[in-house]
Amino acid sequence: MTESLDDIVAQAERAFAQSATAPDLENAKARFLGKQGAITERMKALATVDVEVKKQQGAVINAAKQAIEAALAARRSALAEAELNERLAAQRLDVTLPGRVAHRGGLHPVTQTWMRIEEIFASIGFDVADGPEIETDWYSFTALNNPENHPARSMQDTFYVDARDSDGRLLCLRPHTSPMQVRYAQQHRGAIRVICPGKTYRVDSDATHSPMFHQFEGLWMEEGISLADLKSVFTQFLVQYFETDRLNVRFRPSYFPFTEPSAEVDVMFAEGALAGRWLEVAGSGQVHPQVVRNFGLDPEKTVGFAFGSGIERLAMLRHGVSDLRLFYENDLRFFFFFFR
Ligand code: PHE
Repeated sequence: MTESLDDIVAQAERAFAQSATAPDLENAKARFLGKQGAITERMKALATVDVEVKKQQGAVINAAKQAIEAALAARRSALAEAELNERLAAQRLDVTLPGRVAHRGGLHPVTQTWMRIEEIFASIGFDVADGPEIETDWYSFTALNNPENHPARSMQDTFYVDARDSDGRLLCLRPHTSPMQVRYAQQHRGAIRVICPGKTYRVDSDATHSPMFHQFEGLWMEEGISLADLKSVFTQFLVQYFETDRLNVRFRPSYFPFTEPSAEVDVMFAEGALAGRWLEVAGSGQVHPQVVRNFGLDPEKTVGFAFGSGIERLAMLRHGVSDLRLFYENDLRFFFFFFR
């Protein structure tokens, strides 16, 4: 054994320093401190020397061993720290970022308004029905007493479908929910109280019109009712819908081919951002005798009242939304604001 202990310690320190990973380091350790390591061999050799020499050399070898163990421990912690730093750099974690909120889904404002309208009318005793969005032009116009050349029938106002039904009738996307008056009345006898909410389509697009929008149609046929009942029910609906009785309702004479007399329904709030202005909310009237005939009923015996209103329109008035397009752009900021 020619190497001095100092050489061995120096070798060990170099070997540890050159170990780039924990397994390398453990292998290097074995070369010095393992069963056949350089230091262990020196210890074994002491077995044959006499006691005094053993004592003295043993202390020297032990000091060398401790120096190597210290170097090993230092390198171990250096490697562990380096590994940690590497991991931290790779898995960068910014604790100042906002946490991930588990957003719960919500119903679209139009759907909420739709449900609210159904609930209120159901509480007044109205049934809820729905019908086809692809309608015949007979149900959309003819049955509702629109003359052949009525402007609403034009391609500029109504989306036509390039197909006909099995009876050869022209098809279109329904431009209002009024066809449902006819369908429902044809199928039900006796008193009728129904609303028909749903999608409607018109060739129209700006801040207050969308090619697809929602309406609800109301039909009320019952012995002995009059326009006064329609006024009272619709006023009651508006009071409940807007959750205030600080409003005025006006039935303003108007014209629809399917009602006679006809009235536009306007509302004026006593308070709030929209206070003091008449705002149009619905069309209404007594079902025209020709339409009652198209129901399959005798207009001399049966009277009915109808109304129709826009669901987006009511949502906009209730929540102070000024641009209809916001409902369809799916900007979450708008929806969050809406559900504040
Ligand atoms: N259908 C009419 C519209 O879309 C509204 C209406 C319905 C008017 C029922 C009177 C009676 O404008």
